[in-house]
Amino acid sequence: MLNSKAPSPPQSAHCLMTDVGVSTLNSQHLRLASYAMEFNQLVEELTTREMNQKDWKQVDALFSRIMLFVAVHFKDEEEMMREQGFPGFSRHKKLHDKFTSEMAGVQSQINNRKVSFSGKLSNLLWDFLYVHINEEDAQYGEFYRQKGVG
Ligand SMILES: [Fe+2]
Ligand SMILES: [Fe+2]
Repeated sequence: MLNSKAPSPPQSAHCLMTDVGVSTLNSQHLRLASYAMEFNQLVEELTTREMNQKDWKQVDALFSRIMLFVAVHFKDEEEMMREQGFPGFSRHKKLHDKFTSEMAGVQSQINNRKVSFSGKLSNLLWDFLYVHINEEDAQYGEFYRQKGVG
């Protein structure tokens, strides 16, 4: 976890995620955090042994589930930002797009069975979420609060 701003994933992420003032988005953040923890645990487990067919299936299933939910979440956030005229929209969308393409890169490594389950990979999701939610999503949260949206 070199150069990581995020602390280690805890048992519950509730207290570590900024309240963005929109309940559906807050629950999506918690669900993403729990996926990140599940992913961390799985990767850590897999670093200790040779991967078998069943392990790969588990990785495929979890990673696809995460990718799908990330897409849903980003779409929901972006729709609301656009509707509410959030001034940081295009910058924010770029960050979403960059992360999505990073994730797609990892997914293709997984599909090709050419992925190294290192600490770097296990922290990819959690590090992004922690910093993104608390530093970027927090900004639209503040904007909506000032506008009285929520
Ligand atoms: Fe978010
Ligand atoms: Fe976001």
